[in-house]
Amino acid sequence: MKEPNVVDLSSILLKDSILKCVEPDIYSVLPDESWNEYDSKFGLFYDLVACNPFYNRIVWGYSTQMFSKLVDDALHSASDGPVLDIGCGSLAFTKNEYSQYKDRLVVLSDQSIAMLRMAKERLIKINGKIPDNLLLLHADALNLPFQDNSFKTIISENLLHCPGQAHQNVLTRPS
Ligand SMILES: C[S@@+](CC[C@H](N)C(=O)[O-])C[C@H]1O[C@@H](n2cnc3c(N)ncnc32)[C@H](O)[C@@H]1O
Repeated sequence: MKEPNVVDLSSILLKDSILKCVEPDIYSVLPDESWNEYDSKFGLFYDLVACNPFYNRIVWGYSTQMFSKLVDDALHSASDGPVLDIGCGSLAFTKNEYSQYKDRLVVLSDQSIAMLRMAKERLIKINGKIPDNLLLLHADALNLPFQDNSFKTIISENLLHCPGQAHQNVLTRPS
């Protein structure tokens, strides 16, 4: 674990986090048995069907390009400081934007190893390897392993409906 991006990540992790290398280019702060429904065939279904531009246009009535544009805008919203994508999935909509962006460390996090593997394959197909400033991290959005104020830019697309009761409790907690 000597790559610069891993060193950068280690400096913003909570002190009690244990960073493991799951396989080349995928790191984890979660126990080995951690998974979610996207690790089943549902993840493949999501990637093939729900991420299909024609499906989105016909069923939901919108262009998937808005997901790419939102990421591009967020990446260029600041010139320094790390970027975090929470629930990055397979990068079906955002592979090109992340591939073209070299300026800052980008932590691509997801609770599903299967989705991170799809993201990894896409990045390698485009770039021949995982770009030096991108890091794929197996992590839980409900228990993020980072010190406060670690990120300048935080991106999350199509995640809010996913986490379970714990997340709903946060959203509905009386102020
Ligand atoms: C609907 S997909 C969206 C993926 C991607 N952002 C996109 O727009 O294509 C939701 C993603 O959130 C991930 N996810 C669900 N619950 C999570 C959690 N508690 N922590 C981190 N990721 C989570 C899933 O594994 C899945 O990859």
